[in-house]
Amino acid sequence: MTRHRIELPPLPPTPPEDPVRLVHDWLADAMEHSGQRHPNAFSLATADSDGRPSARMVLLKDLSLAHGYAVFHTNYRSRKGAELDSRADAAAVLHWDRLGRQIRLEGPAVRCPAGESDAYFATRPWQSRLNAWVSDQSQSLRDPAELAERARQKAQEFDLPDPAGSASPGKSAESGLRRPHFWGGYRLWFRAVEFWSEGTDRFHDRVRYERTLTPADHYSFTAGPWRWQRLQP
Ligand SMILES: Cc1cc2nc3c(=O)[nH]c(=O)nc-3n(C[C@H](O)[C@H](O)[C@H](O)COP(=O)(O)O)c2cc1C
Repeated sequence: MTRHRIELPPLPPTPPEDPVRLVHDWLADAMEHSGQRHPNAFSLATADSDGRPSARMVLLKDLSLAHGYAVFHTNYRSRKGAELDSRADAAAVLHWDRLGRQIRLEGPAVRCPAGESDAYFATRPWQSRLNAWVSDQSQSLRDPAELAERARQKAQEFDLPDPAGSASPGKSAESGLRRPHFWGGYRLWFRAVEFWSEGTDRFHDRVRYERTLTPADHYSFTAGPWRWQRLQP
């Protein structure tokens, strides 16, 4: 296993006007070169109504180049879901050690339109879809065996085979496995994006972009122009 740094282009002296394309390009570089199992994983920080922060990893599943938001999926009743219900502001970090790169994202995370969550849910393997029904994510669990039993019962409700067995359901049985209303996507809208590129002797390069976001509807914001500045390392 090689542990050396992979040299990729640094930030340009004059960064691009729109940072979202650069987020896309750094993600593409990470997919190809990072050697990480989940190069699209990011730490997502939320805060409760008293302002106490919490962070956990989630997967970036889509990036809107047109609007500047990232999509992740989760249980809406989980701790992060409850915290986002009370306060939509979130912050995220992507880090690729071998590439010497970090991206920070800040902004409101709002639920995706139901149709979009349905469409993504339908692409998941049937066992993952079943388990989305079974897990009350972030609630206490007395015995892990309870989950397997609940999965077996839920499979029966949906006329699906025992998930512990090797039988696969027919197409029509599978299609009955709809998305639970308590599970779906979030759009993390970028109010700020900051790139960090590892330099020598602590002279790292940082470029921070900011823009204003004004709520347009439940899912969207009207965005002002991006402004950028270099920051000291
Ligand atoms: C690499 C990685 C990726 C993960 N991706 C997701 C994800 O996309 N969605 C999710 O709900 N949990 C994901 N998890 C689990 C979360 O980190 C977390 O344990 C779970 O969502 C419960 O968090 P909460 O109690 O703060 O809501 C992932 C964990 C790891 C380590």
